[in-house]
Amino acid sequence: MTGVAVIGAGHSVFGTRRDVNIPELCWESMKPALEKANLEPRDIDFFVVGNLGIWSSELAVPSIMAEYADLAPKGSMRVEAACATGSAAVRVGYTAIKSGLADIVLVLGIEKMQESPNPSVIELIGRFGSYFWEFENFGLTFPGYYALHASAYMMKYGATEEDLGKVAVKNHFYGAKNPFAQFRKEIDVATVMKGPYVAWPLKLFDCSPITDGSACVILASEKKAKEMGIEEKVWILSQGVGTGTANLSKREEFTSLASARYAAEQAYKLAGIENPVKQLDGANVHDCFTIAEIMAYEDLGFCKRGEGYKLAREEQTYIGGRIPVNVDGGLKAKGHPIGATGVSMAVEAYKQLLRKADKGRQADIKNGRWLTHNVGGTGHYTYVTIYGLEKR
Ligand code: COA
Repeated sequence: MTGVAVIGAGHSVFGTRRDVNIPELCWESMKPALEKANLEPRDIDFFVVGNLGIWSSELAVPSIMAEYADLAPKGSMRVEAACATGSAAVRVGYTAIKSGLADIVLVLGIEKMQESPNPSVIELIGRFGSYFWEFENFGLTFPGYYALHASAYMMKYGATEEDLGKVAVKNHFYGAKNPFAQFRKEIDVATVMKGPYVAWPLKLFDCSPITDGSACVILASEKKAKEMGIEEKVWILSQGVGTGTANLSKREEFTSLASARYAAEQAYKLAGIENPVKQLDGANVHDCFTIAEIMAYEDLGFCKRGEGYKLAREEQTYIGGRIPVNVDGGLKAKGHPIGATGVSMAVEAYKQLLRKADKGRQADIKNGRWLTHNVGGTGHYTYVTIYGLEKR
């Protein structure tokens, strides 16, 4: 089967983007991605848009962008997998090329969440849990769901609120070095501890924000990438996908996500990874809340179960530590425009592996492999993708 390469990538500024409409925000990441790949819109065989859109004006983004960017009449699709929507869009592009149905696929992730007031957005996100059993009956919102994970984790393993805070401090440290990030300000643990509680034990700085933004990658078959003579590219080595129950009460435990463990196992097997810490150069994980990053360390095998908080406490996930994680600011500081997040992770893998990350946040690339971990819902879906400089 053909290899699949990322041959171009682009990223918009994340944040409050009242200065642009939806097509303009999409184009902000599509244009640099097309330029990087040296392609015109007419060269694209198929395009996929990761977008929830429920809070914004335009719902038919593929068609709107076909018109705006001159992509019609090529085939298109809109994809949804809650907060893992961007990675699901990458999955569609990847499988379209793997199966031989397309040679060049443009994958775009876009969300303009701030077109609705925050309380409405928070309610709409809450519907991606288990609406009937948990939202309607118990009023659980996403900060509430992850607060349950956090309190269970703290009780079981002895982690503290300060340990959670250290994840936010790291991600703000790197967000400050990322010109595309929503929050470009360093903070310390005292700032986190002083923040108002959103859902105990999670405070304002333990949460990812509500964000507008877009990200784009262009995928090509091995044959096409060769034909085009593209030198700067990274390969998608593998992708694992897992699904969990919607209802939290149906889960065996609250301190780990079964869908993430399953997706990681698949991705590692397909990419030949036995020791992720030794074989990867870094990772982007789904830190929608600080506890989610700590659980991800464990679900991905970066440490033993129950020791994730120690990696945060000992600052082992900074560049130079055991394994760099979220050195673009993560969802916490870079922002979390839901449909764009997984594609933004792909853009970061591309930049890191090609040593094109911004000053002060470029990881040491020795193994030529980068991992992305994108969770939808409260573990309803997880996508783990391994990118590499060398095709396997
Ligand atoms: N981290 C740090 N600062 C934040 C922040 C965050 N996550 N969210 C907002 N702020 C800041 C704003 O910049 C603003 O600062 P200012 O007063 O200096 O301008 C202030 O806090 C108030 O912002 P506002 O947007 O009114 O916050 P809010 O109280 O309405 O919402 C949260 C804050 C945390 C409740 C909201 O961002 C949220 O629900 N986040 C989680 C989103 C989510 O669930 N995503 C899916 C996860 S899988």
